[in-house]
Amino acid sequence: MVSAVRRPIIAGNWKMNTTVAEATDLARQVRAAVASHPDYHTEVVLCPPFLSLSAVAAAVEDAPIGVGAQNCYPADSGAYTGEVSAAMLVGLCQYVIVGHSERRGYFGEDNAFVQQKAAHALAHGLTPIVCVGESLEHYEAGTGAAFVTAQITGSLHDLSADAVGSLVIAYEPIWAIGTGHAATAADANTMIGAIRATVADTWGAAAAGRVRIQYGGSVAAANAATLLAEPEIDGALVGGASLKADEFAAIIAAAEVSLP
Ligand code: 13P
Repeated sequence: MVSAVRRPIIAGNWKMNTTVAEATDLARQVRAAVASHPDYHTEVVLCPPFLSLSAVAAAVEDAPIGVGAQNCYPADSGAYTGEVSAAMLVGLCQYVIVGHSERRGYFGEDNAFVQQKAAHALAHGLTPIVCVGESLEHYEAGTGAAFVTAQITGSLHDLSADAVGSLVIAYEPIWAIGTGHAATAADANTMIGAIRATVADTWGAAAAGRVRIQYGGSVAAANAATLLAEPEIDGALVGGASLKADEFAAIIAAAEVSLP
């Protein structure tokens, strides 16, 4: 059962998929699926590639669906060829994913850089979805919790308790991403509990009680209800399954079923 105080949040990270036309079509399909359930309490967010933010924002306008970017660069403007700042995202989306393991891994982003991005997003009124997660090596060595909690303190360093309480954290074990092997619900719940305890130790109980922590990594229609039945798991950050509107809609429905 998801928390009674934290509103569940299901976000689709489309990664480097969809042309503008495909993104518009997918957003419309999700909109239609959500529209048939006006009673839903779960927050739904779509994170298309930058190029499609504008089209997706238009496609879900006036629908109860938020939009997020997949990254931002932590400067308002300047000579940073190919980058997009949070200042530029204002008006197009409400959320921005920072510190995804694919960016940490392929583009060498460390905790300090992720912290700058989170602070920059917050300064522009966007809600960061801050990603953390351990490698298979850490998982097998039993050092996953220590690694992930260090990512939390490093990636949220110097943010206020109020800011930390307002953001979204996504726990995404790297070994579960795109593999079809999700963490067990019990393991995901334990790790998210450890993340929440770290937030409580560093930023206080109020921030820990407010911060929403998603699970991500091979979430699908078939396993969503089991994962979301856990008390610490406040939602899901969905990759592959978010590219199919009916599968994504089934994950949203699973969040609804898990409401207290
Ligand atoms: P998959 O759902 O495809 O495993 O991806 C998870 C993810 O990385 C979401 O950010």
